[in-house]
Amino acid sequence: MASNTTFNRETTGQEVADAYGNEIKDRTVVVTGPSPGGIGYETARAIATKSPKLLILAGRDMNKLEAAKADILKDTPSANLALVTLDLNSLASVRSGAKAIAEAAPKLDVLINNAAIMMCPYSTTEDGFETQFGTNYLAPWLLTNLLLPNLLATPSPRVVFVSSVGHRASDIRWDDLDFSGGKTYHNVLSYGQSKTASVLNAVALAEKYPKLTAISLHPGGIMTNLMRHLTEDDMKGMVSRFMNEDGTPKAGVFFKTIPQGASTTLVAAFDPALKEHSGAYLADCQIAQVKATTAESSLEEAQFVAPYAIDKSAADRLWGISEDMAGQKFSS
Ligand SMILES: NC(=O)c1ccc[n+]([C@@H]2O[C@H](COP(=O)([O-])OP(=O)(O)OC[C@H]3O[C@@H](n4cnc5c(N)ncnc54)[C@H](OP(=O)(O)O)[C@@H]3O)[C@@H](O)[C@H]2O)c1
Repeated sequence: MASNTTFNRETTGQEVADAYGNEIKDRTVVVTGPSPGGIGYETARAIATKSPKLLILAGRDMNKLEAAKADILKDTPSANLALVTLDLNSLASVRSGAKAIAEAAPKLDVLINNAAIMMCPYSTTEDGFETQFGTNYLAPWLLTNLLLPNLLATPSPRVVFVSSVGHRASDIRWDDLDFSGGKTYHNVLSYGQSKTASVLNAVALAEKYPKLTAISLHPGGIMTNLMRHLTEDDMKGMVSRFMNEDGTPKAGVFFKTIPQGASTTLVAAFDPALKEHSGAYLADCQIAQVKATTAESSLEEAQFVAPYAIDKSAADRLWGISEDMAGQKFSS
């Protein structure tokens, strides 16, 4: 159980940071994808208010990192911030970014893997992997593993994977991870697969490294730049699935503000009670219950985690595949 059972879908990231300020103070934390307008930015902004020793903002665009830094410093002028460029579309960039982070933070308390893309058209990463799988899962898997020595050098290390209810759209496509080179590509299933993989990443780390707390989560539905790849048809499909004709959300559907969208990540990163629940998946600031998906209700039931996403043997199998893809072994 999470420490604060009253935190819910309306809780803001700042309220969580206020509650766990002592867990943030003097810690070194990395947040990936902190571009202004997104929930990574709001996560970082709230963390900065609680005197971390060092807060590292890692992203692919130095202009956006500088803008995030300037905004955070307006809010908290004393914040100690460092910026690292890292493009999840390239494993070489992940390696150089990890090196820069490791140098800045020989002891790293918390790594928040927030950055991702959603429902883009078919393409491949610099290394030839389907882009959503490569960006949303494989690159954070590699980044985390490269930073494990720094994380394990701290008393109570934590890794967070911002996943999504989207994981309920697809299990891992074990026999066709890359959609037959794009021939069978479906942008929702691809996003779903990548987000299932990030839940499995936390499960695998929890099994392999008992000292580490690894948590994944769904942040909620929040209007951000994540929607940038949606086509007009994608938008129409989403609107009819989640909204009534008069523009109000359908029963059970709730859209969060950006401050509300940062809260579950902050619980995952700093709630001390979650040390007992490594491998857990959170939604609306609480540990999610397990519920199988159905074609009709998969994405509407955002408070549940799919059984296939927390399967330990699947997590182990994916780990082996990831080692082969990245060309590097990280078994403990
Ligand atoms: N918003 C929602 O409703 C929702 C729902 C479920 C899950 N999520 C998850 O929440 C997380 C944050 O999303 P968001 O809604 O805040 O979206 P966002 O505003 O688009 O933020 C995504 C961040 O990821 C970064 N990013 C994308 N591709 C990258 C790459 N190749 N290398 C490095 N950074 C990259 C983006 O950088 P640029 O600015 O440079 O593109 C941006 O900083 C994601 O993991 C997303 O899947 C969001």
